[in-house]
Amino acid sequence: DRPKLLGISGSLRSGSNSTALLEALKAALAPSIELTVLTLNDVPLYNEDEDSATQPEGAASLRAKIAAADGVIFVSPEYNYGPSGAMKNAVDWGSRPYGKGSLLGKPVLVVTSSPGSTGGIRAQAPLRESLSAAGARVVAYPHLAVPGVADKVKDGAFTDEKTQKFLTGGINALVKEIELLAHAKAG
Ligand code: FNR
Repeated sequence: DRPKLLGISGSLRSGSNSTALLEALKAALAPSIELTVLTLNDVPLYNEDEDSATQPEGAASLRAKIAAADGVIFVSPEYNYGPSGAMKNAVDWGSRPYGKGSLLGKPVLVVTSSPGSTGGIRAQAPLRESLSAAGARVVAYPHLAVPGVADKVKDGAFTDEKTQKFLTGGINALVKEIELLAHAKAG
């Protein structure tokens, strides 16, 4: 079976480079890998009062999509040296209920980007740390940071072959992690 991946964009804006990166990845990977792109516009801020027997629809849907995926790709911009609030909020929803969160044991890949020269690299460590706290299996290597992202994706496709190879290489590492986990469960 081809792996089912969920790609979550950490930017809410319509012209987002993060979302564009995911769309380009989806096109580059098809048809061998299924990648569904998700934006977080409908996910409310985490509120423990609303996290009981039921949750707000956007949050419940996010959890269900993470749970159904074999692996998740978190593509975040860097906001003030960390991941965007929307992205951190998605990790918070995915981390609960404690011990049963949808991110627990889930293979995940972290990608950051920026139009500038640092590729959002300063958001990598804090995002990885939060995903670890949620119990996700964070792919340790490579750290995928894409500088000058606005020049590397256009009309839903990569315009830079190096960037495409760099990111699809990361996806291969994620798929390997998914396969290792499947073998461990079967064995
Ligand atoms: C930014 N940006 C930014 N860039 C960066 O390299 N380091 C940073 O710390 C920040 N901080 C930051 C904070 C806030 C509140 C905004 C709105 C932006 C710029 C950011 O990389 C740029 O806007 C990206 O285009 C955002 O990603 P999307 O929306 O294109 O996916």
